[in-house]
Amino acid sequence: MAEVIATTDRLVLRRWEEGDVAAWLEHLNTPAVTEHLGGPRSLDEVTEKFAKMTRAWDEDGFSFLAMALRSCGTFLGTCGIARIATDAAPEELRGAVQIGWQLRADQWGRGLATEAARAMAGIAFGLAGLDRLYSQTSLRNGASWRVMEKLGMSRRPDLDYDDPHFPAEDNPTIIYALAREDWRP
Ligand SMILES: CC(C)(COP(=O)(O)OP(=O)(O)OC[C@H]1O[C@@H](n2cnc3c(N)ncnc32)[C@H](O)[C@@H]1OP(=O)(O)O)[C@@H](O)C(=O)NCCC(=O)NCCS
Repeated sequence: MAEVIATTDRLVLRRWEEGDVAAWLEHLNTPAVTEHLGGPRSLDEVTEKFAKMTRAWDEDGFSFLAMALRSCGTFLGTCGIARIATDAAPEELRGAVQIGWQLRADQWGRGLATEAARAMAGIAFGLAGLDRLYSQTSLRNGASWRVMEKLGMSRRPDLDYDDPHFPAEDNPTIIYALAREDWRP
């Protein structure tokens, strides 16, 4: 198995390995999971996403990771931290680090994203030594901003922005933030 970066009661967060592109296409590249993310992507786009995550790991020492069940290794999705690259984002956000998550739909509502996000925030403020984490979603994506709230993040409406990569109903992008001193492991 690929290098394990963190474990929780139910989860393993690990680096990407062979077979994960296929698992992503099957479980994450679906209409349900991508409903607020602009819809399913082409194989080329998903392959480029994996290349980008590998490059980010090499350059920053962190990236989005694979999330799997600890008991049996079943692929669940992704959770991680990465630099915000969107040109449309306000200056404070560009190059700053965001935390995010995507979970296969048959596992929603069990607290798994929050469990993964707590482990990831621990890595962000610990190993990665970050002072502040941001997170981005849309008002319609209630499950995602609820995870942000459970993580202790606060809304930053002054940083909301319109992102042309997403449909009108998922604009504006809304922002949450968490400072290291406010993080409660
Ligand atoms: C967002 C996502 C990762 C959440 O995963 P999850 O494991 O179900 O999340 P959790 O169970 O840890 O927490 C979800 C919380 O949102 C709540 N919730 C669910 N749907 C909601 C909605 N429409 N409005 C408000 N809250 C909602 C749940 O009740 C739960 O809160 P609670 O524990 O206080 O009851 C999952 O829905 C997902 O993968 N969505 C598609 C991908 C995506 O949109 N990712 C985020 C991009 S910004």
